[in-house]
Amino acid sequence: MTILVTGGAGFIGSNFVLDCLSESDETIINLDQLTYAGNLQNLASLEGDVRHIFVRGDIGDSALVAGLLMKYQPRAIVNFAAESHVDRSIHGPGEFIQTNIVGTFNLLEAVRAYWGALDTTAKTGFRFLHVSTDEVYGSLGKTDPAFTETHRYEPNSPYSASKAASDHLVRAYHHTYGLPVLTTNCSNNYGPYHFPEKLIPLMIVNAQAGKPLPVYGDGQQIRDWLYVKDHCSAIRRVLEAGQLGEVYNIGGWNEKPNLDIVHTVCALLDELKPRADGRPYKEQIAYVTDRPGHDRRYAIDAHKIERQLGWKPMETFETGIRKTVQWYLDNPQWVANVQSGGYRDWVAKQYGTGPKA
Ligand code: NAD
Ligand code: DAU
Repeated sequence: MTILVTGGAGFIGSNFVLDCLSESDETIINLDQLTYAGNLQNLASLEGDVRHIFVRGDIGDSALVAGLLMKYQPRAIVNFAAESHVDRSIHGPGEFIQTNIVGTFNLLEAVRAYWGALDTTAKTGFRFLHVSTDEVYGSLGKTDPAFTETHRYEPNSPYSASKAASDHLVRAYHHTYGLPVLTTNCSNNYGPYHFPEKLIPLMIVNAQAGKPLPVYGDGQQIRDWLYVKDHCSAIRRVLEAGQLGEVYNIGGWNEKPNLDIVHTVCALLDELKPRADGRPYKEQIAYVTDRPGHDRRYAIDAHKIERQLGWKPMETFETGIRKTVQWYLDNPQWVANVQSGGYRDWVAKQYGTGPKA
């Protein structure tokens, strides 16, 4: 049996590939364009493993995707590939429209053609799982109830709008063509291999480098945080037992203001790798201009996946964040390579051209 994973060299995708291959012998075809966010070093432990077949390419390249589907006949597709950083979407939304909307559309078209030609058994067993975000639901007030799967879509950034559009396309392909889809909307992930442009890894990396810890606005924006491996187990569970056409919210029951997150990271670093001058890392916190259109609060009601599929997160925030900080302390070379662009040089050598900037 084979699964096609898209975006499997990124943060969540690479954790998913590693977790899947540690738990099953199913072959994974990993289609990833290796943008700045894709990093094959995340998958270095799989070198020589015949169960992992990496293909560098764009989900929007219909001919490439059609060829991969014909050749490998996957029983399922898990679509992680996307532009994922809100701040980048504010500076330049074009790539987000291209990959998250047009790319997903092209992928769906290729999958529809492939699925339509399968025999009845393969057709019935096939799944297309689309990985999405809680940001499509917009922003909550302090006392509003958490997002359920029926919450209205109200995306506020070019990133969330592009993800919302892709969710709608996936839904439409189920209702119109009967494509067997599943959609998951998850809250903020954290853990190993997280690119240090996002809040938690940026704080860990900047703190150690003696740089400022930039907190947007008043730092009181609230996010729900989920350890990445819990997200991966939820996706596997939805793939295994999710009802076709259904949406599942995934979250960690861990709502925290950003400033608390930064303080927690600082306190862990004080304990695990104290500053040479003995002063607390929190002295490096610097309040900076807020993100335009910054959503104030996200919160996920994850009762449906718990009730229907028996999934619950394994990590508490306290255990997950400790593991995460420790992982960054144990992997300075990974951080150095990501920051120096060392992995990009390797990609250029291996594939002839570097990834998109
Ligand atoms: P990421 O930016 O770390 O990784 C994205 C991966 O997709 C990279 O490897 C990149 O090279 C690849 N990619 C980008 N454009 C591509 C294209 N056109 N064709 C093929 N590959 C392409 O992102 P992530 O944080 O791992 O997020 C993965 C998915 O999960 C995204 O769809 C994101 O919207 C969603 N999500 C993320 C979070 C989070 O907290 N990070 C939470 C909920 C949902
Ligand atoms: O909610 C799920 C989403 O979580 C995913 O869909 C996105 O792909 C993922 O990037 C993440 O989006 P956020 O915008 O919530 O994550 P980010 O790490 O960029 O920011 C988290 C919060 O921290 C947010 O309120 C902005 C703030 N922040 C972020 C950075 C990078 C800061 O205060 N300072 C910073 O330097």
